Amino acid sequence: MTRLAIFASGSGSNAVNIIEYFHNKPEVEITKVYCNNPKAGILNKANALGVKTLLFNREEWKSDAILSDLKKEETDVIALAGFLWLIPTDMVAAFPDRILNIHPSLLPKYGGKGMYGSKVHEAVVANKESQSGITIHLVNEKYDDGGIVYQESVPIQESDTPEEVASKVLTIEHANYARVIEEYIQKL
Ligand code: GRF
Repeated sequence: MTRLAIFASGSGSNAVNIIEYFHNKPEVEITKVYCNNPKAGILNKANALGVKTLLFNREEWKSDAILSDLKKEETDVIALAGFLWLIPTDMVAAFPDRILNIHPSLLPKYGGKGMYGSKVHEAVVANKESQSGITIHLVNEKYDDGGIVYQESVPIQESDTPEEVASKVLTIEHANYARVIEEYIQKL
């Protein structure tokens, strides 16, 4: 059995998707949703789904409180789902090749510091790209930089707005992230 922690900062639709996907699968237990944003929609959603949450501030993040909690929970794997803070070196080192992230572009394009949320899709449209997509990758000390585990593209029409691109990309995030996490865990 693999104990999976989820980190989220926002509405948490990917986090909810992961929780629901593993709900009836005894091989994976969701331990907790870790969240840095008191206004994040995921806090209520996780509670409604019976998953514990841990809300923390910058000071707690910089201390060893979160790493201690992950260890206390006997965490095996971490999935970042719309989590916006950089993962500290000691956490990366404590979970080698055990932290996954989903990024809403075809990395290495449109990744790195400051490239998150709507900014990604605005840049994709401004550059008249004919496709975008998702990248599920391992997490290292830099933003959006670790080894790529899975990518899938979506076509973009010239008339697409950033919101329309975001919606297409989110659809394939939901269709793939939990499944790719499951397959990754099976190979560990
Ligand atoms: C997703 O597009 C994810 O790839 C990105 O932020 C968005 C989060 O959406 N990193 P949600 O919070 O999972 O609804």
